Amino acid sequence: MKKEGNAFTRSSNRRAFFKNGAVAAGAATLGAGLLTNPVSAFGQDDGGSPITRGDIAILRFLSALEQVEADLWIQYAELGGATNQGLSPIDLVQNGRKINTGLAANYVTALQVLDGDMPQYIVDNTDDEISHHAFLNNYVMSKGAKPVDLSHFAILPPSQVTGVPQTGRLTNLKQLKVDTSWWTRYRSPNQNPDLGGTFENAIPDLVSHPHTAIPLNNDDLVLNPDGTIPNHLQAIANTAGFHFGFIEQGGSSLYPSLAQKVTNLQVLRVLLSIGPTETMHFQVWHDKAANAPNITDGNLSFPNLNDGQDPNTGLTTVGSNPAIPAADLFQTNLIMPEPTIFLNSKFGPVSIIRPTDPNNAAQGAVKSFVDDGLFIDPASGQNTGIVAVLMQLAEEADEARRGF
Ligand SMILES: [Fe+2]
Ligand SMILES: [Fe+2]
Repeated sequence: MKKEGNAFTRSSNRRAFFKNGAVAAGAATLGAGLLTNPVSAFGQDDGGSPITRGDIAILRFLSALEQVEADLWIQYAELGGATNQGLSPIDLVQNGRKINTGLAANYVTALQVLDGDMPQYIVDNTDDEISHHAFLNNYVMSKGAKPVDLSHFAILPPSQVTGVPQTGRLTNLKQLKVDTSWWTRYRSPNQNPDLGGTFENAIPDLVSHPHTAIPLNNDDLVLNPDGTIPNHLQAIANTAGFHFGFIEQGGSSLYPSLAQKVTNLQVLRVLLSIGPTETMHFQVWHDKAANAPNITDGNLSFPNLNDGQDPNTGLTTVGSNPAIPAADLFQTNLIMPEPTIFLNSKFGPVSIIRPTDPNNAAQGAVKSFVDDGLFIDPASGQNTGIVAVLMQLAEEADEARRGF
């Protein structure tokens, strides 16, 4: 991804930090330093070559993003998570605190329209993110580096549904602009974001206006007089369903992108072992979002993606390439990654994760979360201070270079 404009100006503190030599700036300097002193500040351990400052920067950035993910998933689990999972007990715990799940029963029911197991998957995805953040912190601490804790930015109000702990949160799920272009990105046979490809949204209304993905309060949970689910509540559940896919496709790209900058083999193993679990999540959510019922609630419509029309244009072919039927890019059961161009079109199409360009991948991930609206403080309409810290961690991760 290209470097973004001045919305994310570089921290002058960090600049000074690099300039005065506290951290060697750039790969060449770092690599040269290691030649004369083969043991880095972070030890050698089991990974062959030393763990570099770049490795630590990548791990710390990932820990930060996993904390953000854990925060948003906990909110989904509190409201829409399973309250039992058969004979296997719910064991959702963060920092020794048990997380109460499934507090919004009718939201749970609306989520189950997408799949009866949605509440279980929400709890399990939450459990995974909590473990990713905790593991990455424990791992960097074991190498003598500082763990990441952004909890002082947890100031955003949660849902007011009865029972939800009224503690500040890192993320705001109430005014999201959910990008659903991942839907067509994984279906396109001839475009790759790393080669300049652009992609249409599957649900255009989700990104054009902000919508909530969680019930704001008990009023959002009232059923129709006949006991059916109102379109408003179903739209909230549908929005969540597509948001799950958005979040997890991001992790699916981020880990392979950053892995290309890792030097130490054990750190590489950490990234290669966590990353594919994000893809396992993504694949599940991709499948479930496909079951979102075609409803309209105010300015939010969930169009029929199986009618052979591009929901953006109403055409039966794709605007940018009339040779491609619209069905190829929107049909709901086409959830396996379509082979597309990779590296160079002369190699022929191949089924891959996309994007995986390591250039500014960490900053791109933060920007996508910012664009999603995750950090908007409703009191001010501005992002919280977490954005500047995430961008600083991202810049340091993006500075990392693979080197021996
Ligand atoms: Fe994760
Ligand atoms: Fe994730």
